[in-house]
This record gives sequence, structure tokens and C-alpha cells, in this order.
Amino acid sequence: MAQYPIKRLRRLRYNPLVRDMIRETELSKSDFIYPLFVVPGKNVKNEIRSMPGVFQMSIDVLVEECKEVASIGIPAVILFGIPEHKDEVGSGAYDDNGIIQNAVRAIKKEVKNLLVITDVCLCEYTSHGHCGVLDGDNILNDETVDLLAKESLSHAKAGADIIAPSDMMDGRIAEIRKTLDENGFEKIPIMSYAVKYASGYYGPFRDAAESTPAFGDRKSHQMDIANGLEAIREAESDIEEGADIIMVKPAGAYLDIIYRVKDKFQMPTAAYQVSGEYSMIKAAGKLDYIDEERVMIESLTAIKRAGADMILTYFAKDAAKYLDKKR
Ligand code: PBG
Ligand code: ZN
Repeated sequence: MAQYPIKRLRRLRYNPLVRDMIRETELSKSDFIYPLFVVPGKNVKNEIRSMPGVFQMSIDVLVEECKEVASIGIPAVILFGIPEHKDEVGSGAYDDNGIIQNAVRAIKKEVKNLLVITDVCLCEYTSHGHCGVLDGDNILNDETVDLLAKESLSHAKAGADIIAPSDMMDGRIAEIRKTLDENGFEKIPIMSYAVKYASGYYGPFRDAAESTPAFGDRKSHQMDIANGLEAIREAESDIEEGADIIMVKPAGAYLDIIYRVKDKFQMPTAAYQVSGEYSMIKAAGKLDYIDEERVMIESLTAIKRAGADMILTYFAKDAAKYLDKKR
């Protein structure tokens, strides 16, 4: 291999057109999945205090938002629902007339060219804010899995294009796949939150989804932030159980995990740039400590460079507009 002074790596950096030509990673609007929060009511649009530019929306407002998202060229949204009533077993999650089910039907009826992904978990629907059914302070695994399968089927019946279980219970992918298939939904893909860490970066989301646990934490089902090999085992079991797309979450602080999971399994891989990642960039931008737009693009590019094929991000609209403007 040539050495300096013959080798000069800067040769390819002087001219911006050359830089464009050799760039290895290019973000595209088609990479993005935009998260949305649905609430009961009419004409509701509440901004989340800790997430500037992100809103809880009633279904009528949500449908208009989805039209805009589709017109910008973003291919998909993921929906989170806040129900009218919460109870011990999260009944609102698998009610065929629940908030998500109604939202999906409304979007599917009125918006063309948009994939509707639904997040499947119980924490937004339980009075205690936990991701499953409780026995004392223990989250019951298998009982919860049955309800998650019911929730998934109910979403599919309403017209969801992709089901995204975010609960981290053991065995839920197999049970959801089986339930969907038995009911004629064998063509609906599962995007599994396969590798989800018990992360402090979810704080602002819990304001948005009103899902902060009333006591305790999520460490008995979400992964320990210190573990990497365990991520391989988690992804592997979800793939074996039938996951079509695997997700790593959060993204920015877990780029090594995205890389390892993609490298090992070569599966369609999603990464979730979560609420806290968004809020921190927004807040620092507001204070003029960083250039928000620049760091937005840098953070998303890094996630794609690490191996993500798709990125769930609250920046989806802003980043898509930026990419349009750049062309
Ligand atoms: C629900 C769920 C959470 C997120 C996505 N689905 C929160 C949690 O596990 O507490 C977090 C997303 C974000 O922070 O943007 N299980
Ligand atoms: Zn949950």
C-alpha cells in the first residue's frame, strides 16, 4: 500500500463534488418512520413539554397529519395510543373499538401511500403503567403474551400494515405470529423491538404516552444497558420466532449494538432514535449550544452508517424537508 507522500487521504476532501461522489452513507426520506401519539377527543393538538414539535393528537388531527407526512414522502408512521380509560389489564389495548383501532381505520380510509405500523404493548393502557399483567409487583410473562397477541390481532383487523411489539416479554413473537396466521393475517410483517434497553432516554416519551410506571421500573424485561452479547441472543430468538424486521432501541448510544446485530444476522434492521435523543438535540439547539439541523443530520447519518435500514425518529419530517431542500 502506498504511503505518504504518495498517499494523501485529503486529496478526496478538497472539492465538494468529489466528497459527494465518494460518500458512503446517504440518508433518504424512505428510511424514516415517524412516531405519532393518538389521544381521545376532537380537534386536540397538545404539544409535549419535553418534546418541542411533537404533539398528542386526536384522530381528526392525526389524519390530517398523516396526509402531510405522506405528501412529504415519508413512507411510514408508527402509532402510540393513549386510551380513554386505563385498567389493571390494559383492556383498551385489545378493544376492537380502542383508540389505535379507530385511528388505523381512519388513516387507512383517508390516506393513500402510507404504511401504518402499530406499537404493541400494554403500558399505555394499564392503570399502573407496566408493560404487562401484574401479580403483586411481578410482571407475568405468559399471561401478558396472550394479551399482546390479542392486541396484535385487533390492530391487524383494523388494517395495520405492520405490527411492532415493544414489550420485551419472552416468546411473544411466536405467539403473535401464530395468532396472526390463524386468523388470515399471514402477510402482515412483524417488526420486533428485539433489542430494547432499560434506558433513561425514554423519559420524554413517557410524558407523551402517559405511561410512566406507578412504581418500580422496566428492568425485569428490558435489557441491561451494559450488555452486548445478550443483544445477539435477543435478536436471534425473535428471528427464530418469526420476526421479519428487528429493531435496536435506543439508537445513538447503541451504535455498536446496531452494527453487531446487522453484521451477525443481515436482517432488515430498524433503529429507534428515541424521545430523549430528540429532546437533547432540540434543547441544546434552542440554547444555541449546537447547530440543531446539523446535529440532527449527523445523528441520523451515524445510525444509518452503523447498519440501520430504517430509522424511527421524531425528526422524520424535518429531516425529510432538509433532504428535499438540499437537492
Ligand atoms: C412502550 C414504548 C416505549 C417507547 C416505545 N414503546 C417506552 C418505554 O419502554 O417505556 C419509547 C420510545 C421513545 O422514548 O421515544 N413500551
Ligand atoms: Zn411497554
